[in-house]
Amino acid sequence: MLRTNNCGELREAHLGQEVIICGWVQRIRDKGGRAWIDLRDRYGMTQLIFEEGSTSVVLMNLVRTLGREYVIRVKGMVIERLSKNPKLPTGDIEIQVHHLEILNEAALPPFLIEDETDGGDELRMKYRYLDLRRTPVRKNLELRHQISRKIRTYLDNHNFIEVETPYLIKSTPEGARDFIVPSRMNPGQFYALPQSPQTFKQLLMVSGLDRYYQIVKCFRDEDLRADRQPEFTQIDCEMSFVEQEDVLEMFEGLVTFLFKEIKQIDLKKFPRLTYADALKYYGSDKPDLRFDMCFVELNEVIGSSVFPLFNEAELVVGINAIDCSTYSRKQLDELVNFVRKPQVGATALIYVKCNLDGSFKSSVDKFFDQDTLRTWAECFKAKPGDLILILAGKKDQTRKALNDLRLEMGDRLGLRNNDKICPAWVIDFPLFEWDEETQRYHAMHHPFTSPKSEYMGQVDKDPESIKASAYDMIINGVEIGGGSIRIHKRALQSKMFDVLGFTKEEAEAQFSFLLGAFEYGAPPHGGIAFGLDRLCCLFGGVESIRDFIAFPKNSSGRDVMIDSPSLLDEEQLTTLGIQIEKN
Ligand code: AMO
Repeated sequence: MLRTNNCGELREAHLGQEVIICGWVQRIRDKGGRAWIDLRDRYGMTQLIFEEGSTSVVLMNLVRTLGREYVIRVKGMVIERLSKNPKLPTGDIEIQVHHLEILNEAALPPFLIEDETDGGDELRMKYRYLDLRRTPVRKNLELRHQISRKIRTYLDNHNFIEVETPYLIKSTPEGARDFIVPSRMNPGQFYALPQSPQTFKQLLMVSGLDRYYQIVKCFRDEDLRADRQPEFTQIDCEMSFVEQEDVLEMFEGLVTFLFKEIKQIDLKKFPRLTYADALKYYGSDKPDLRFDMCFVELNEVIGSSVFPLFNEAELVVGINAIDCSTYSRKQLDELVNFVRKPQVGATALIYVKCNLDGSFKSSVDKFFDQDTLRTWAECFKAKPGDLILILAGKKDQTRKALNDLRLEMGDRLGLRNNDKICPAWVIDFPLFEWDEETQRYHAMHHPFTSPKSEYMGQVDKDPESIKASAYDMIINGVEIGGGSIRIHKRALQSKMFDVLGFTKEEAEAQFSFLLGAFEYGAPPHGGIAFGLDRLCCLFGGVESIRDFIAFPKNSSGRDVMIDSPSLLDEEQLTTLGIQIEKN
């Protein structure tokens, strides 16, 4: 070993010892007769001291040639610091250096490699290997490692075995576009990178593996957001001889175990919400349950009205913002502008202030008298001091817009604190959803999801009414995981493909391996997959999954460090049988 110790472990107990440590020069302070270096490695920081008199002139001169991020190796004695630094675990000691070796020089880094840096996002992505030297970024990777270890412990303890499935596969329909890979040996043919190992894990159940898991990369060519990357990691799990309840219990257990072990948080039993209620009361299938502010629908109490917006609306629905009746004109205008943003999409926001004196002031005073406004306030259980915010329009759009407004109010009122953890299961998803664009049914989860047992005989009769044995785990408004009980009989799987608009030939061409496998004794099975990157964000209390990925892509799906994707040269394209039209 080039060192006897690392930069994070020396304490007063080591006083008087001769040590050798290696690391990166974080900072040099040169006060003429004395110089100090903060030496950093993965484990921490240790102060080195050089003093004219006790340090040789040669060494003193060598110190003065060093720059930030030089890699050095020093030999010296652990001594007590004159002015201690209680913020640093090694803050009681320093190393009086008598030998220094430069292991490698370093160019001036393009941004400060300190906890608070001056580097912008793109620059830090370009030099990600330098960004990863920063303690907060490195700590994120350490947390990710710890979470993965605990996941493996839990699953190992419950008899799951980790099996690797292939990356060069055929398209799996999970709803996004595939990344494709040309096959040189099969000109004109392509592999697809897995959007998930869904069909493989089901085949492993047919093989009798009983309980499978894999911490696995998945690839989806979709528009990117803070919680989406084109390649991300799933904790993918499958179990045989189970019903929905068994899967929910097992994986609620996993997440509860993780919060206990990693954050020392005791989670209570997860509440369950049906998909229909999630939409009705929160306008989203992944509601943020850290705060109430449930939707209240007003259509019935309003009846037919003189107010044109309400009269024409399919849905009139609102929320009650507690203690916000004192909002100023400016604050209300901000909310109006918020709901009118194209991505929110409402045309108008109606407000009712419940004044402290028991009267009401609304944006629709012209149309509604005080008694009517009082009736509304009762529906919302609003008290004097509260502010009711109402949207009206087409059902789905209005719910979506009010969800956005609810979250905005949650932010404004400081109700979305990352220290609070509010998980829930969303259940009873529809099996199908109608897609206007393609004029076809789509599987809401994926085509391998089983209908709930009570709908078993009617998959092809009234598709829209059928509920699936599918479930999502949501935490603080983020979909952390999703899964289902699977179809395990060929006839039902074929019927599913029919309803989804596959011809017999198409279904056979794409899924004959699975349909075939179901003929050889497929056990009832079900499972779930969690987004590991999203789970890490939750534990780390940050919004962007990029922070927990060692080498992430930017918002255009580029790796700016290695500059990928990139062009291929002609020869490579020819070998792959690919022609690119040049314009
Ligand atoms: P699903 O598509 O719901 O289910 O994905 C499971 C979980 O993976 C995470 N996730 C993502 N994380 C980061 N970036 C992305 N682009 C991304 N897409 C998904 C989410 C999500 O809940 N095969 C099924 C699982 C099953 O049925 O067992 C599947 O993939 O946290």
